[in-house]
Parts: sequence; structure tokens; C-alpha cells
Amino acid sequence: METAQRVYKGLEGVYVLESSLCLIDTEHGKLYYLGYDVEELAEKSSYEEVSYLLLHGRLPKRPELEEFVGKLRSEMRLTPEEMRDVQYAAKRTGPMDALAAFYLFASKDPPQTKDPMEHAIRAVAKAGSVLGNVVRVQRGEEPMEPQPELGIAGNLVYLVTSKKPEQYQTEFLDDILILHAEHGVPASTFGAVVTASTLSDIYSSIVTGLMTLKGPLHGGAAEAAYYQFVEIGDPNRVESWLERALAEKRRVMGFGHRVYKIYDPRARYVKAMAARAAELAGGRVKTLYEIAVRLEQAAIERLSARGLYPNVDFWTPIVYTAIGIPPGYFTAVFAVSRVVGWVAHVVEYWKDNRLIRPLHLYTGPESGQRYVPIEERG
Ligand code: ACO
Repeated sequence: METAQRVYKGLEGVYVLESSLCLIDTEHGKLYYLGYDVEELAEKSSYEEVSYLLLHGRLPKRPELEEFVGKLRSEMRLTPEEMRDVQYAAKRTGPMDALAAFYLFASKDPPQTKDPMEHAIRAVAKAGSVLGNVVRVQRGEEPMEPQPELGIAGNLVYLVTSKKPEQYQTEFLDDILILHAEHGVPASTFGAVVTASTLSDIYSSIVTGLMTLKGPLHGGAAEAAYYQFVEIGDPNRVESWLERALAEKRRVMGFGHRVYKIYDPRARYVKAMAARAAELAGGRVKTLYEIAVRLEQAAIERLSARGLYPNVDFWTPIVYTAIGIPPGYFTAVFAVSRVVGWVAHVVEYWKDNRLIRPLHLYTGPESGQRYVPIEERG
């Protein structure tokens, strides 16, 4: 096969696969899953229904959704052995590693079914129950039995806060899970598909996805945006903080995106949620929101000419804080949501699998170097 001898650094501008899962319309700042506007899905659908959409390629009829939700709920429970795995991992590692360790244990001993869809559903269902208990164990609390009837979002809020969630907490988290569920082939999804292309199992693909998402260039910006708001501390300090930050060549965290050069549609949606969260929760959440609003305005004035606008991570810290999720777990919540995106890509890719094996352009020494025994090397 003829191949142009050119390296596309960072694979920028390179199409690596075909997928029907999502369309990122960068011109108009819109995101669609299987043709459905993600903002409409966040408003009207549930994370469970969106998971069905991504895994099956269409919206379910009522009985199909009920059956799907039933499967998810039975898999949301953690067996005593799984609970031990969670505790073991949570005590020894950070949240992302603990999630990965859980799936690693699952990949060692997957249940006896060959249907990848069954594994995919199991993987999606477990994520929130695992993370909720990781949070508990790492805070020195006792683990708790998941409450599947609360749904994936409500159950996660329940495990993190130890209380039956308020409706607004569940709705906020459900919307955030929907908005983060799928986004084409960022590094983590590409990594997951590379692993799947070797016909490794679904859980191993998730481990690859998690470990790739963990990197600060990918999944960590919401937490950084939170600490940026905390550092600013007061809405009246925004402008002076920004001047200093830009003079020091610091980046405004939660601003800019490799793909969107206009307002990220997810950010637009979460901004409206953050406004409601500030009203509902008041106190610290309101202060964070007021800082964010003023920083957004000041930073857009300075940066929009270069195509830099808020991305989704600019606004989520405010909503996470209102829900009661601690900042050290923001990336892991993103991961819980993205598990469905990873497994949907894996299932889709396996329909026409081809081992992913690119080429490298050799830049090393000339061939035919003489091997000099170690004692003769100068
Ligand atoms: N604040 C200030 N300046 C910025 C920012 C920012 N947030 N982002 C980019 N720039 C500037 C860069 O300094 C650079 O300037 P220069 O040309 O004078 O050197 C120019 O814009 C281009 O920057 P790149 O890093 O090449 O742009 P890229 O498209 O690769 O970066 C990225 C995208 C990594 C998201 C970047 O905008 C950034 O670091 N943002 C802050 C972190 C962040 O919010 N990440 C979340 C991404 S969304 C997500 O993962 C869900």
C-alpha cells in the first residue's frame, strides 16, 4: 500500500475512523448524538435513555427503555466481591486509578457471556456505584449499598452525599452526564478503540480510556477552573487577576478548545444550569458563579478574537459544587459519563474490526551499525 511519508503530529486533522455516534458542528457550535441535539437531550431525556441511544443507534420505545433500565439497575448493584475490590483500590490509589482498577478486575474475570452489548451495559451501570463508593472510602467513610431505583445520577449523588438526593441535584447531574457522554474521538476514545481493535475485551478498553482521560491536557480542566475561581476569591478581583494571569502567560482554565473556536454548546447549557444552581444553593456556589460570570465577560473581551471562549469545564465546577461533589472527583464524574461513549465506539468498531497499526517514520541511525563489545566502547 502506498502511504505518503508524512507524520501528522498529534493526528491533528486526520480522520481515523467512521462513526455514526456524534456530530460536532464546529461552525454553528452544535453537538448531536445520532442526529439529536445534545441540548434537547439534556433538557428532555435521561442518561439511561441516551445510553440506549448511543449503544443501539436509535431512541428506544417505552418497553425497550424499561427493559434496558431494568438491566442497568440490576447491574448497578455491587456484589460483596466487587465491593471489596472497590475498597481495596480506593484505599491505594486516586479516583481515576480506582475506577480503572475496578474495570481491570472485571476484565480478569468477565461474566460468561460473549455478547459485547451485555458487557457494555454492565460497564455503564457499574461506573457510578463504583465512583460513589470510591469517594466514600477515600473520605474515610463506610461504603454504602447502591440504590438503583434512584437512577444512575441519583444513585451517585446519594452515595457521595449519604442523603436521598434533592430533585435538583439528580436533574443537574443527569444533564451533566448526558452532555459528557460522547464527543467523537478525543484521545481517550481513540485509545479505547485502539485497545479494542486488538480484540482485547471491553473492560480493558475502558481502562485505556480512563488512563488517557486522566491526563491534564484532557480531563482535568474542570478542577483547574474551580481552583482558579477559588484563587480569585471575589468577583471584584476578577479584572486585576485576569490582567496579571495573562501577563504571566497563564491560561484561563475552562477557556479554549481544540475543536470549538466559538462557544461550546455544552458550556452554553451548563452556564444556564450554573445560574439556577447559584439561585438554589446560594452561599459559596453563588460567589463562584458571580466570579465565573465576571471572568467570562472579561476573558471573552480579551481572548475571543483568537477563537477562545468558555468550554464546558468552565461552568461544570459550579454545578458540581451545588450537587455536593468534591473538586478532586470532577474528572472521575466526567469518566463515569464517558464510559458509555467509549463502549459505544468499541461496539461500533467491532462491527467491522481492523487492527489499528499505524506506521512510524524512522529517524534513527543508518542501518548496519557495527556491534562493539561493551569492553571496547570508548
Ligand atoms: N487562556 C489563554 N490563552 C489560551 C488559552 C486559554 N485558556 N487556550 C489557548 N490559549 C492561547 C495559547 O496560549 C496559544 O497562544 P500563542 O499562539 O500565543 O502561543 C493559542 O491560544 C493557541 O493555543 P493551543 O494550545 O495551541 O490551542 P489548542 O487548540 O491546542 O488548545 C486547549 C486547546 C488545550 C483546550 C487550550 O485552549 C487550553 O489549554 N485551555 C485551557 C484548559 C482547558 O480548559 N481545557 C479543557 C478543554 S475542553 C475538555 O477537555 C472537555
